[in-house]
Amino acid sequence: MLSGAVEGEKMRVSVVGTGYVGLTVACFAKFGHDVTLLGRDRKKIGMINSGRSPIYEPGLDEILKLGVDSGKIKATDDYNVVKKSDVVFICVGTPSNEDGSIDLSQIKTSSTQIAEQLKTAGHFIVVVVKSTVVPKTTACVVKPILEEISGKKCGADFGLSMNPEFLKEGTGVEDFIHPDKIVLGVFDEKSYKILEKLYSCLDSKIPRVRTDPTTAEMIKYVQNSALASRVSFINEMANICEKFSVDVNDVAYAIGLDSRIGPKFLKAGPGFGGSCFPKDVKALLSAARTVGENPSMLETILDVNARQPRRLVDMAERAVGGLKNKSIAVLGLAFKANTDDMRESPAIIVIKDLLGRGAKVRAYDPKAMENAKEIFSDSIEYAKNKEECLRDADVCIITTEWDEFRNILPYVKCPIVDGRRIINPEEARNRGITYMGIGWKDNG
Ligand code: UGA
Repeated sequence: MLSGAVEGEKMRVSVVGTGYVGLTVACFAKFGHDVTLLGRDRKKIGMINSGRSPIYEPGLDEILKLGVDSGKIKATDDYNVVKKSDVVFICVGTPSNEDGSIDLSQIKTSSTQIAEQLKTAGHFIVVVVKSTVVPKTTACVVKPILEEISGKKCGADFGLSMNPEFLKEGTGVEDFIHPDKIVLGVFDEKSYKILEKLYSCLDSKIPRVRTDPTTAEMIKYVQNSALASRVSFINEMANICEKFSVDVNDVAYAIGLDSRIGPKFLKAGPGFGGSCFPKDVKALLSAARTVGENPSMLETILDVNARQPRRLVDMAERAVGGLKNKSIAVLGLAFKANTDDMRESPAIIVIKDLLGRGAKVRAYDPKAMENAKEIFSDSIEYAKNKEECLRDADVCIITTEWDEFRNILPYVKCPIVDGRRIINPEEARNRGITYMGIGWKDNG
């Protein structure tokens, strides 16, 4: 048995979706639960069954390997496992449509397939929506599909819950095991009790927040919008600070000492990216409009964020007096460190803008090179390492805060525009290197 297992409390969990969220739900196996991941991609299924993670996420390979070796984790494309489960998590993608609204097609497909299984299930199964979905999706989209197709009644024959996920890419495993809270949005007592039992493997001191499903959906959006608003807020302040020769880091540190504000998510930079903040703020904005609200704050969060990456390019342009035919080393492609994820990465906007202004781009990222090739194909050069990336560059732009970029100074001969403030400015100055960044006092 794996460490932390709860003998006698073992439950059968199936998980629809093998992306970040689905794979981290497999952490339940660490506590003795049996987990089956349901996916469509045979390659991913094969990887999981051989104990390897299809995505780069620290700690996940180990969880999968231990789980597969001990028979606690497996992957399949056969929905029959749903019938043999106590709890079924829906962890499919909910991407943005062109207009920013949420695309619920995968939610509908997976609900339909689960409902087919519920039809002939002989016991009470709790279906849990873990994907991020706009308010009322569980009640008004998932529930009717499950009831109509299965011919069964929610709350009596099967359970339904909305249980949002708050994990951060790069620390997903840790966040799953030690969350700040567990939000359980339920219609009925029985579903709550089953989920409480499932989650009893996690520390009992972690607050359990019981709500209805629509509130749980809203909690997820409001939390992500609040965090995204902090990032856009500090970026806007950084832009003002710069003009007054004030260092935004000093300001962020001081205001963060006020317990009403706190220190986290006050790091100015190239703007937020990833598969969540941009998509979720857009989806909430769009959902709000459908109910007659016009949330201008949400719009502003996105506007500030869209402009922010271009400031790095403006700075680079100023540093070398025009970008036409200049060689730019872009260090960092992932939307943040410790992930290979490039979805909505500020680096994409930076590189497109550089190319648009006539520059030549050579890029490097420790993990995201393959993803970058799919986006930029042969429009940019791909370096094998940071040294190669920096060779003969006219200017270097740092877009991701990878640890290995902290010690680049010995390889640099050109100005550095640092979107993440990861180098000691004094050391750069001592080496005679122009070192600039968003919201700094002495740019140069
Ligand atoms: C975010 C939330 O933090 C998670 O709680 C949530 O579960 C997840 O979205 C989701 O909805 O699935 P994630 O997108 O992995 O997690 O990344 P974050 O660490 O939140 O960073 C998001 C973006 O904000 C990154 O581009 C990061 O560089 C940027 N950021 C963050 C800043 O620019 N400054 C900061 O101070 C903090």
